[in-house]
Amino acid sequence: MIASYCAELAVSMHAMIGSKYFYGTGDKRLTEFAMALLDWKDEYAVGVAELDEHHRRLFSIVNDLYLECLKTDHNNGWLGDKTRDLLAYADYHFSAEERYIADKGYVEMPGHLQMHETFKQRAAQFLQIENREELERSKELIVYLGSWLLHHVLEEDRKYVVM
Ligand SMILES: [Fe+2]
Ligand SMILES: [Fe+2]
Repeated sequence: MIASYCAELAVSMHAMIGSKYFYGTGDKRLTEFAMALLDWKDEYAVGVAELDEHHRRLFSIVNDLYLECLKTDHNNGWLGDKTRDLLAYADYHFSAEERYIADKGYVEMPGHLQMHETFKQRAAQFLQIENREELERSKELIVYLGSWLLHHVLEEDRKYVVM
């Protein structure tokens, strides 16, 4: 059920990317159609208060990045700033989570660490984006990061809790 929810969300995010409402600034339709990429729900909690708080915050940072991208057609540095926030917080969360799962002796830890690394590498690609044309690519990256995060929290992080 969770997996199908992820797939459904990814489809709607991709549809959004193809939408005319995604482009241009100062267009009133943008605010009407802009919606959060990721909505936090209590059922997403893995049951470890500190880590759940981190997940909630990560959802919120990715949403900020997404909504900012919907509102603009140029990048005058904000993308880099928000990306650095995302990277710094992801790093902070991953470190805390990795300590937690190491303490639990989670056997699939190496694979889990590799997933965290992949996220950081993809997020770091934002830092290379400087002009308008490239901003289009950034929208695809945000959707990728959003769906990665949702899938990771709902499917992968859950595994170390139930072991
Ligand atoms: Fe996590
Ligand atoms: Fe994780």
